[in-house]
Amino acid sequence: MVRKIVVLNPKGGSGKTTIATNLAAYYASLGQYTVLMDYDSQGSSTRWLSKRPDELPEIHGVATYKSHAGMTRSFAMRMPVEAERVVVDSSAALSKHELLELTRGADKILIPVLPSDIDIHAATRVIADLLLTAKISRRDNRIAVVANRVKPNTLVFRALMKFLNSLDIPVAAVLRDTQNYIRSAAKGVGIHEMTEKRVAKDVGQWIPLVTWLESDGSFNSEIVERTLIASIR
Ligand SMILES: Nc1ncnc2c1ncn2[C@@H]1O[C@H](COP(=O)(O)OP(=O)(O)O)[C@@H](O)[C@H]1O
Ligand SMILES: [Mg+2]
Repeated sequence: MVRKIVVLNPKGGSGKTTIATNLAAYYASLGQYTVLMDYDSQGSSTRWLSKRPDELPEIHGVATYKSHAGMTRSFAMRMPVEAERVVVDSSAALSKHELLELTRGADKILIPVLPSDIDIHAATRVIADLLLTAKISRRDNRIAVVANRVKPNTLVFRALMKFLNSLDIPVAAVLRDTQNYIRSAAKGVGIHEMTEKRVAKDVGQWIPLVTWLESDGSFNSEIVERTLIASIR
């Protein structure tokens, strides 16, 4: 069964491409038939994929922004039938129509949020759009936030967590701010594919996220929360 995961946030630089590419690499390294769809005309995911070494597990790239056909049509037409995991990287500005197209049929929607006042404010709008425009119910367990580039023990991080708790949207991961993501991106690999000891902490921070991504509507969030708390320490 194919599972579609959309990484969404109109705010540029929040970590959409970083999360989408790392997630695709993670699934591919598990042996899953993975498709990485690039909906961003900047083509960052596509560029990352072009750098990917041949000997690593294959990720099937689909640069949807190059297509002038309607989004749904191109999505259906170009999706390999073998696909098991579809990870969608999206662009900054999204029209209401595009938001609906992107989220239609999405099993999971990830919203990366940086700990800053501006980003917290922008995230409120995205979440409101998802709940009100795309009519996604909190109860479906389809939306989660990824707190990205976090420096623990900072006031702004605490403000972010307080804000997220008040929204009643799960926080599936807290990813620290580290050069490991920049180094891995330059090589077309994911942090799960790096062997260096210094990425161990980062790999650990993905556990609650990948656990949540496999959860269904009636999922008990306890495991995610437990692994999340462990990963922040
Ligand atoms: N957790 C992180 N730690 C350090 N750098 C990060 C992290 N997440 C993203 N970045 C860097 O921040 C920049 C913007 O991230 P990117 O994923 O391209 O955002 P978006 O796709 O939302 O515009 C990139 O240079 C990326 O390497
Ligand atoms: Mg991007």
